[in-house]
Amino acid sequence: MKTLLNSMIALALVVANTSALAAPAQDDVSLGKRLFLRCAACHAVSSQAPAKVGPHLQGIVGRKAGSVARYSYSPAMRQANLVWNQAALDRWLQSPESVVPGTTMGFAGLPKLGDRKALIAYLKIPSP
Ligand code: HEC
Repeated sequence: MKTLLNSMIALALVVANTSALAAPAQDDVSLGKRLFLRCAACHAVSSQAPAKVGPHLQGIVGRKAGSVARYSYSPAMRQANLVWNQAALDRWLQSPESVVPGTTMGFAGLPKLGDRKALIAYLKIPSP
């Protein structure tokens, strides 16, 4: 009986631990969703949404820069020749102008690493 109780306690601890580990990611996504409100004036997340001032951001993590066919990018972005992996997005969100000088994205940047991380976590969701 004691062993059964012990293994039940052990199992409960494992379950508690797993959810503790999963929690920050979920927090990131909900913070990211809130932060995206600062982008939403200019960007849709879905390729199906009506066009805005900026290109849609569906599948942006891993996407080639300047690659939305019907969007009219700045010459700087068309020639940027980079892929929006996590590192590139992090730098871009910190300071767009220093990643693609001459870009037409008018955004001052997110100074906090945690904010950028959360926003990228949100943008990774296939269809947020
Ligand atoms: C005032 C409007 C505006 C805001 C706010 C804005 N963007 Fe942009 N964004 C643009 C424009 C315009 C472009 C196209 C830039 C170019 O062609 O040089 C762009 C381009 C991008 C690109 C490159 C897309 C591609 O297809 O290569 C990413 C990624 C991006 N924005 C993410 C964001 C995120 C995330 C936010 C919120 C933190 C944000 N933007 C806020 C207008 C905006």
